[in-house]
Amino acid sequence: MLRTHTCGELRIEDINKKVTLTGWVQRLRDKGSLLWIDLRDRYGITQLFLEEGKSDAALILAARQLGREFVIRATGTVSERISKNDKIATGAIEVKLEGLEVLNSSKLPPFTIEDDTDGGEDLRMKYRYLDLRRNPVRESLQLRHKVAQQTRIYMDSLNFIEVETPVLIKSTPEGARDFVVPSRIHHGEFYALPQSPQTFKQLLMVSGFDKYYQIVKCFRDEDLRADRQPEFTQIDCEMSFITQEDIFNTFEGLIRHLFKTVKGIEIPVMPRMNYAEAMKNYGSDKPDMRFEMKFVEFNDVVVGKGFQVFDQAELVVGIVATGCAGYTRKQIDELTEFVKRPQIGAKGLVWMRYEAGGALKSSVDKFYQEDDLRKIAATAQAKPGDLILILAGPADPTRKALSELRLLVGGQLGLRDKNKFSALWVVDFPLLEWNEETNRYHAMHHPFTSPKREDIPLLDTDPGKVRANAYDMVLNGTEIGGGSIRIHDRPTQQKMFTMLGFTEDEAKRQFGFLMDAFEYGAPPHGGIAFGFDRLCSLFGGADSIRDFIAFPKNNAGRDTMIDTPATISTEQLKELGIAIKG
Ligand code: AMO
Repeated sequence: MLRTHTCGELRIEDINKKVTLTGWVQRLRDKGSLLWIDLRDRYGITQLFLEEGKSDAALILAARQLGREFVIRATGTVSERISKNDKIATGAIEVKLEGLEVLNSSKLPPFTIEDDTDGGEDLRMKYRYLDLRRNPVRESLQLRHKVAQQTRIYMDSLNFIEVETPVLIKSTPEGARDFVVPSRIHHGEFYALPQSPQTFKQLLMVSGFDKYYQIVKCFRDEDLRADRQPEFTQIDCEMSFITQEDIFNTFEGLIRHLFKTVKGIEIPVMPRMNYAEAMKNYGSDKPDMRFEMKFVEFNDVVVGKGFQVFDQAELVVGIVATGCAGYTRKQIDELTEFVKRPQIGAKGLVWMRYEAGGALKSSVDKFYQEDDLRKIAATAQAKPGDLILILAGPADPTRKALSELRLLVGGQLGLRDKNKFSALWVVDFPLLEWNEETNRYHAMHHPFTSPKREDIPLLDTDPGKVRANAYDMVLNGTEIGGGSIRIHDRPTQQKMFTMLGFTEDEAKRQFGFLMDAFEYGAPPHGGIAFGFDRLCSLFGGADSIRDFIAFPKNNAGRDTMIDTPATISTEQLKELGIAIKG
């Protein structure tokens, strides 16, 4: 190599060694008679040192020409620093510069390559290759690497085989839109990029692979959020001859292994909560269980006092914000504004303060006497010093809105500490959900999920009530994984497609290969896929998965660095048999 050591390697034991280092110039400090250069690479920073009168004059002149991010090769002797820097690993030494070769110059970078940079998100994304030189970003990717390595170690130890599945495929229905790729050879025909390898991993079970996994790219054309990218990575897994319990043990084991090896944290056995319970008590199928703040229903204690909003509501439900009776009017108004946002959708917020002295005050004092308020407080098991926040309206949307309020208040109370982890399984999801827009049932998970055996008769009478053998793993309020026990026989799979509104022909055209395969000895099987980027960002305590992806897309689905999506030449369009309208 062009170097003898990295920039993070030299210690006091190396004093008097002749060394050669390579790296980027982080900083040049010129104090007249003394000159220091901070040289940086992936491994750390080493200080280089020159002294007027002692160092070669031509060398000092050359050093003064260096700019930020120049790539250099420096030769010198390791010496002990007079003033040591215990914040960096090499802080006890410096290298007396004796030779300098500029390997490449650099334009002044558009933002500082420091932990706390002056560059905004857009600029950093445009020059992502420079952003990636910064410690926090590199460390995030190193953590990602470690999670991937440990995943492979765990899966291999259990005899899982990593198999690659194709990227140019046919649509897989995971609930989002497909990205499509036009075929040049077959005009008018398109490949779809996989939303997941779902059908392939099931086919591998039919092939007898028994235990499969893959760290794999998936593609979904959906609206982006902090925890969603159009291309993202899954730890995708499938097993044959298993029960749901085996899946829980195996993959709870995976997550526990990752926590232990990557974070050094032992996490407790994951509790299980069924979907109905999660929705009723937390208004969400991914409740953040770092804190309790369970929903309390008040219908029985509030009706009949002349307050129309409560009297007419299908559901009156609230939470207790412990110790928040002292919230100012302004703070409460902000909570009200929050729940009234269109994306939250509540009409208003009713509050009741249980003051430290025992007095009760509420925004509905006009309708409720002291006694009534005591009943509300008792139902909520509130204590002096607490604040009760109540929403009313149609059941499902009201619960969803309260779920958002719960998260907001939980955050304000410091109950959502990024260094605390709380994981659980959410189980017994409904098989189907009614879609008002399309006026038909959609698969809540995907169409290959099996119904619970005892609920099968309901398929013909009350499909919305059928529960699925489906489960999600939830970590700190984020769905990090989801899966199911699959259908593995043709008649049930065909019936499922019919329930979802496919004609027999459509089902055959799209998924005939899978149903055919089910007729050649398909074993019972099931699996799960984890959102790898999400898992890494939770491990790293980040708000966005983007920080854990080397070259992510921005909020508008663009890569501003390579400038894509982009138009293609008329020639290419012609070859593909495509004409752009308008
Ligand atoms: P599902 O659709 O639940 O299941 O996806 C599995 C996990 O992938 C993550 N995820 C995403 N991460 C980042 N950006 C996205 N756009 C995105 N979409 C999903 C989530 C989610 O829990 N084939 C099934 C799995 C199975 O049944 O085995 C599937 O893909 O963390």
